[in-house]
Amino acid sequence: MAEDLSILKEATKEEKYLSIIPQIEALVEGEADLIANLANISAALKEQFNWFWVGFYLVKDEELVLGPFQGPVACTRIKKGKGVCGASWQQEKTLVVPNVDEFPEHIACASASKSEIVLPVYRNGEIIGVLDVDSEYLSHFDAIDDDYLNKIVSLIDA
Ligand code: SME
Repeated sequence: MAEDLSILKEATKEEKYLSIIPQIEALVEGEADLIANLANISAALKEQFNWFWVGFYLVKDEELVLGPFQGPVACTRIKKGKGVCGASWQQEKTLVVPNVDEFPEHIACASASKSEIVLPVYRNGEIIGVLDVDSEYLSHFDAIDDDYLNKIVSLIDA
């Protein structure tokens, strides 16, 4: 496993994903521990994209509980259907929210967060949590993020 990531500074979003995805594959390949892999995925994404917050919430007893992440401290528990994370879990679909203030029941862990993307995470075909990425900029996420972040979380569906 490589100890240092190669990080692109001057590049398009797509080029950054194309550079970081094989590195994430190398990080999780051969490691069966879920938490170790989620921790490294959060760290690699934070290093490449420097998003405000990136991390995982994991399904535990009918709630989402905070998992490995990078960024400021966050809410620890989210109920099914609540906030963007709880809605993504309940609906089992990716939610792209250009302006969190316009999302009903958005859970504001940090007032600096302005837009968000949340996608379901599966293992052995079963939903085990969500990946949540928050930005301090409005409309920061689009179909490119949806596509590549789904490719990244699919790496742990094994
Ligand atoms: N804003 C999220 C809660 C999690 S934090 O932003 C890290 C939501 O509405 O689900």
